[in-house]
Amino acid sequence: MSKTVILSPQNIQFEVQDGQTVLEAALNNNIGFPHRCQVGACAACLCRKIEGTVSYHLEPMLTEKEQQQGWIFACQAFAESNLVLTFEE
Ligand code: FES
Repeated sequence: MSKTVILSPQNIQFEVQDGQTVLEAALNNNIGFPHRCQVGACAACLCRKIEGTVSYHLEPMLTEKEQQQGWIFACQAFAESNLVLTFEE
């Protein structure tokens, strides 16, 4: 089952298929999602989760505080539910 991701506040919406990272799905939908390495090293894809749940195969390098604030690595994150994401602090 695919999940819906909404980028706030622009309200850009796209679908993430199972087994696809949030970044892959965005790029497949021609969305200009910031990225570089795509392997969880550069942090260019860092964004903040306002709603929803993500999972990782490899836990990214985030402090507990950053995780509490909702920061995720979009190139490593799999959507476990519909998501609302933002690039704003
Ligand atoms: S694209 Fe480099 S960490 Fe995600």
